[in-house]
Amino acid sequence: MFAEKLSKLLGGMLRPKPRYITMAVSPSAEPAQALPPDTMPRHVAIIMDGNGRWATNRGLPRSAGHAAGVEALRDIIRASDDWGVQCLTIYAFSTENWARSKEEVSALMGLLLKYFASEIDELDEKHVRILILGDVDGLPEAQRDAVCRAMERTKDNTGLKLNIALNYGGRAELVRAAKALADQVKAGELEPEAIDAAALEAQLYTAGQPDVDLLIRTSGELRLSNFLPWQTAYAEMVFDRTLWPDFDRACYLKALREYASRSRRFGGVEPKKATEDEHG
Ligand code: IPE
Ligand code: IPE
Ligand code: MG
Repeated sequence: MFAEKLSKLLGGMLRPKPRYITMAVSPSAEPAQALPPDTMPRHVAIIMDGNGRWATNRGLPRSAGHAAGVEALRDIIRASDDWGVQCLTIYAFSTENWARSKEEVSALMGLLLKYFASEIDELDEKHVRILILGDVDGLPEAQRDAVCRAMERTKDNTGLKLNIALNYGGRAELVRAAKALADQVKAGELEPEAIDAAALEAQLYTAGQPDVDLLIRTSGELRLSNFLPWQTAYAEMVFDRTLWPDFDRACYLKALREYASRSRRFGGVEPKKATEDEHG
């Protein structure tokens, strides 16, 4: 118990301290109080929704909304890095999104290639570590190669952990974890009685990362759409009506301030910090 606390304390001391967020970062944002580092979420997950409606509202094809969404994403990743968020998970393409028209799926896949080609140098320079959550083998070959190269190139980076949920489904992730545990039992490496939350968690794409503290969904939809069902079990949720391409640092800061104002109790009575919860 003592050793665990000490290692958490040392881990905390060794981690780079997030800078205070002040409004100097964005001229377009409303004046706001600085957010102290201990009210910052360690893991932010974002359902970037509303690209299609953004385009339709302008009389543009849906693909134009996705292209505009990439611009918004670029700044949100930079802001996460500037503000000392440890892990950022973004929902880029779900296992259900294959149901869209061929044109839209191929526009999204094309954007994916363009994204990695244009962003990888900056991300690597910023020491961002890229991890793909989802079934990479189910992607077309060129996209699979691009994401595998990005993961390989950045795997030793120690900055922001950028998880890109791609061909991701929460139920598929849990089925995959259950199969991995069953294989271990079959091979005699694991006793069924030894299966607990930690054992299952170790088989998730996000193994070793803290649970999601703050989940943001844009566009006004109030659902999870099969995103990180395990990792968001105790997440604070913020739903913003902004369509994703219009989501900027000011919107992000508003969500962070909302998070900072929440009282997280993890089933107890007294408010706790995420680091004090058992999944921290
Ligand atoms: C989210 O925007 C992007 C992806 C799902 C890839 P949408 O394309 O879902 O936009 P809306 O919800 O139709 O407006
Ligand atoms: C969730 O958005 C998936 C991504 C943002 C990649 P959707 O637009 O696909 O979700 P639903 O269909 O409205 O639930
Ligand atoms: Mg949508």
